[in-house]
Amino acid sequence: MQLERLRLLNFRNYPEADIPFSNGVHIIHGENGAGKTSILEAIYYLALTKSFRTSTDKHLILNQEKMFSVQGDFITSQGQALHVVLGYSKESGKRLTTNGQKAQKFSEFIGEVPIVLLHPADLNLSQGGPQQRRRFLDILLSQSSKVYLHHLIQYNRSLKQRNQLLASGMADEALFASWEENLSTHGAMIVQKRRETIERLSDMVKNGYCELSNRDEKVKIVYQSNIPEETEGGDLLAEYRALFAKKRSREIEYGTTMVGPHRDDLLFLINGKPTRAYASQGEHKTFVIALKLAEYHFLREQQSHTPILLFDDIFGELDAQRIRQMLEQLSDIGQVFVTTTSQSFFEKVQNFSAPTHYYRVKAGKITPEMPEKN
Ligand SMILES: Nc1ncnc2c1ncn2[C@@H]1O[C@H](COP(=O)(O)OP(=O)(O)O)[C@@H](O)[C@H]1O
Ligand SMILES: [Mg+2]
Repeated sequence: MQLERLRLLNFRNYPEADIPFSNGVHIIHGENGAGKTSILEAIYYLALTKSFRTSTDKHLILNQEKMFSVQGDFITSQGQALHVVLGYSKESGKRLTTNGQKAQKFSEFIGEVPIVLLHPADLNLSQGGPQQRRRFLDILLSQSSKVYLHHLIQYNRSLKQRNQLLASGMADEALFASWEENLSTHGAMIVQKRRETIERLSDMVKNGYCELSNRDEKVKIVYQSNIPEETEGGDLLAEYRALFAKKRSREIEYGTTMVGPHRDDLLFLINGKPTRAYASQGEHKTFVIALKLAEYHFLREQQSHTPILLFDDIFGELDAQRIRQMLEQLSDIGQVFVTTTSQSFFEKVQNFSAPTHYYRVKAGKITPEMPEKN
């Protein structure tokens, strides 16, 4: 998948922008606060119809304006044109059109433009709380499987309903049974898909980690849920039915649903030890990069389109050696967007084989630029 042209209107600090892109690596540089992340945010927004910085679309509108829009001209890996327009106005809300047709459900579009983002907050993936890891997995799976996304949306809907009922203190047996049946059905599908995916992803992360660290380490990811793995081949659906019913009276006390896939976690292991408790800063970084590279390879395997890669300002966090190794693992990458404040970053990627293009950002303006010669 390749983004050929990006147009912005009243997006963040960009009143207007119209930028051509091509294949290979795009290095976007400028000072802090110039508008670099906003460009990646716009591309991400087009692909996932959401920002990675805010869940409130209003925040994306340029000061005092009433609406914004983001437009992308893509070429699919099969050579087909895909024109995506995503707009939001305070008055009429959000609207997505693809090739001139208004989308009824945004969820049907997710995955059409596969995307992988690595930004500084991701460096916490292996040491932070479970929410970040679930989010990582949900975004990955939502892009690779429309069935998964369907179950996830339905699960979250039922969860909200059950939580309202728990908090209300009403002991409506029939309603409980109905939301719990929905939670069990969608929950079992979600967990099954997550387990399968983690098995594949775990191998990919192991390979990536060993290559990055030049050592043969035992790296593994384990999916952790309330239903032990041993019941595999057993009946996940029946297990969840029993679990939700069993916990109900306790959860009425707490007013919220405390078991189920929305509370599950991923355990990251290096040589049998959880990274959260044992890994050094360097090992955390290597693990997260391996995880993100695995996300890229997984999507590529599942999808007919090569994902677009977004690297936001991570090069201050990583040494030149890791950057080079990381880029080497992406030997035949499609399209990459990299933001940086550091001119010296150019030197680090100099001998990188893919075509490299430079852009300069200054106060909400982006312009293509020739690389500096020295
Ligand atoms: N809705 C908005 N309207 C106008 N300016 C905004 C809006 N949201 C963020 N900004 C500003 O846009 C600027 C660019 O932000 P960002 O893209 O994160 O910069 P960079 O990544 O280059 O450091 C920041 O100064 C920020 O305060
Ligand atoms: Mg930034």
